[in-house]
Amino acid sequence: MMDSKEAYADSHQKIPYRRRAWLWVASALIFWSLVGYRNRFNNGRPLEEKPGEKVGNVHWEQCKSFPHSDCGSITVPKDYFNSEAGTAKIAFARYNATKLPKKGSVFLNPGGPGGAGMRLATFLGPKIAALVGPQWDLIGFDPRGIGMTTPAVRCFPDPIAERLFLSNTVIEQGITVSSIANLSSETLRDELLLQYEQFLAMKQAQAQLCEKNMGDELKYMGTATVVRDIEFMSKVFDGEDAPINYWGGSYGSILGTYLVNMLPDRVGHVLIDGIADAVQWSSEPSRYWPRNWLSSTESTYELFLKDCAQAGPRLCALAHSVGQPWQNIERRLESFFSKLAHSPLPVPFGVRPGFLTSGAARGLMLINLYSPSLWPQNAENFAQAMKGNATALFNTMVPDYRLDNGGRSGSRDLSRLAVTCLDSPPPSSPEDYPTAEELVDVGLETLRARSIHFGLSTGISEPDGGCEYWPVRGPERFTGPWNATLRTPMLIISNTYDPITPIASGLKINSLMPNSSILVIQNGPGHCSLSMPSLCTIKQSLQYFAGEMPTNGTLCQVDQPTFPDEKEEDFRLQALSASDRELLEAAEEVGKWMLEQKLS
Ligand SMILES: *[C@@H]1O[C@H](CO)[C@@H](O)[C@H](O)[C@H]1NC(C)=O
Ligand SMILES: *[C@@H]1O[C@H](CO)[C@@H](O)[C@H](O)[C@H]1NC(C)=O
Ligand SMILES: *[C@@H]1O[C@H](CO)[C@@H](O)[C@H](O)[C@H]1NC(C)=O
Ligand SMILES: *[C@@H]1O[C@H](CO)[C@@H](O)[C@H](O)[C@H]1NC(C)=O
Ligand SMILES: *[C@@H]1O[C@H](CO)[C@@H](O)[C@H](O)[C@H]1NC(C)=O
Ligand SMILES: *[C@@H]1O[C@H](CO)[C@@H](O)[C@H](O)[C@H]1NC(C)=O
Repeated sequence: MMDSKEAYADSHQKIPYRRRAWLWVASALIFWSLVGYRNRFNNGRPLEEKPGEKVGNVHWEQCKSFPHSDCGSITVPKDYFNSEAGTAKIAFARYNATKLPKKGSVFLNPGGPGGAGMRLATFLGPKIAALVGPQWDLIGFDPRGIGMTTPAVRCFPDPIAERLFLSNTVIEQGITVSSIANLSSETLRDELLLQYEQFLAMKQAQAQLCEKNMGDELKYMGTATVVRDIEFMSKVFDGEDAPINYWGGSYGSILGTYLVNMLPDRVGHVLIDGIADAVQWSSEPSRYWPRNWLSSTESTYELFLKDCAQAGPRLCALAHSVGQPWQNIERRLESFFSKLAHSPLPVPFGVRPGFLTSGAARGLMLINLYSPSLWPQNAENFAQAMKGNATALFNTMVPDYRLDNGGRSGSRDLSRLAVTCLDSPPPSSPEDYPTAEELVDVGLETLRARSIHFGLSTGISEPDGGCEYWPVRGPERFTGPWNATLRTPMLIISNTYDPITPIASGLKINSLMPNSSILVIQNGPGHCSLSMPSLCTIKQSLQYFAGEMPTNGTLCQVDQPTFPDEKEEDFRLQALSASDRELLEAAEEVGKWMLEQKLS
């Protein structure tokens, strides 16, 4: 993960392409989630809590290795509705505007939930500045419970205990659906039931660990509290009445939607990308979320298969001949998933010794769809696995436990659940707790109605569920209304083929705020627009942050094919102006980093 420290020493240096990069691709709502968070500042450890910290205090410290950014922490009320609760300390970094006059600060969120954001303003600072313009200070911060912010989520006694707990379970490997041929089959039902029984037992164990090791400290990590933190920081950094500006994708779109609707009179420029449906997020338990998330997944999978078939075996290792029917590739993959369900593949020489299950392979194919720039590499990994060598594919899923050094910095612990369980509605009584049977029913319905291939495959990238056992509720849960009137419309960016944050959700948020939002549609695949950057989309964002409103409904094309021929790619890039090339490189770098932050 963030192991190659030296590579990050210079924030202008290119991110080295790492073999396992794409894997970290995932969590949609995570997408932009940060793991492997190993900032040199404080060695990635949570900040010490010193007694007597006063609310509003800001400590500035030098960001080690990032001379162009300032790092620091700010003391905020732990609970904005109860001053007795004490304080929390938000870790942040600021990348200064490089051109005067300054227009204000833009708060950044990398997704998740569970993503730490300081790095967005340290080593990615110059790249994000290229995407929003030079006149903004960029503020990256670690949201509640996450990274170096305190209190941090520490439900597990240590990261090794967490890793041992998860290894080879349904939470790590995903749910196996042995065959999609007959969704009414009793055999399939029985297989699923066993897996969901294990799932529920694990969720109870997690919740009991959190109760014992975190207790009430877990109450202050919901999205509404993070919105209050952003407002608090904005007042301290920019002044009482300064507009709050924001940039975020994936889960960051949830945070952005909460922000504009909780504080409509306070916000200025707000860009959200890769839209998750905040209305559903706040009003339904997480077992129903995939119904919305997966509404473009099948069409994205089909696009992947078609592009692969058309590219042929030289560019896409899953194709057997140029222009063969894409359905042939789909059938071969499906028989691979079915075979694995009964005979998992041994992986003796992976990151750790292990085996590849069908659930894992299907989940990894879904994660693959998030990141079109890695489609060729992924096709190669799947092709190898189908020939019996699953090492490369397995390695994309399993974090390298050796990188943890027994320390904390590589572990996200349960920071995602700490957010989702406070945001979603609690069951009214234990009689309402979902049983394994009910989870099977909901899952089968998602397969039937939404995504026959991946309806049960979101678990690896979006590890939700079990909030009925969560030990605490927060002081504030925002549930709308979602139709705020804003002085400056919010910019919404949606891809036509986003496998986890579908365009339907972008259209929905846009339709709730018809006069206060602008939808720009990127006609291409991938999770969030930066997963396959388009110069057109980038320029719409730049224009927006410069104060010129894009036209609602603008359709932007992507610039490159999904299975590119390297020589043709070189020609294409050479044909661009130097400034366009720079924009595209900045976007690619930010997009790649965001997608690398998946899983932990
Ligand atoms: C950023 O700007 C502030 C205020 O103008 C200044 O005090 C600080 O030194 C600047 N930081 C860097 C790294 O240039
Ligand atoms: C599907 O499974 C059910 C239950 O096992 C069985 O009754 C039905 O005949 C199967 N349908 C097909 C098309 O095989
Ligand atoms: C299996 O794949 C891995 C990773 O691609 C490679 O290093 C290894 O040599 C392969 N093993 C065999 C037996 O081909
Ligand atoms: C916004 O939605 C709320 C609740 O759904 C509704 O009562 C209110 O009339 C709406 N406001 C506007 C301006 O449409
Ligand atoms: C949006 O603006 C139009 C034209 O000014 C107006 O007719 C309409 O009522 C507005 N809709 C909302 C929801 O504010
Ligand atoms: C904005 O554009 C979207 C996408 O074309 C469309 O669905 C929506 O109706 C438009 N909104 C307004 C207010 O015209």
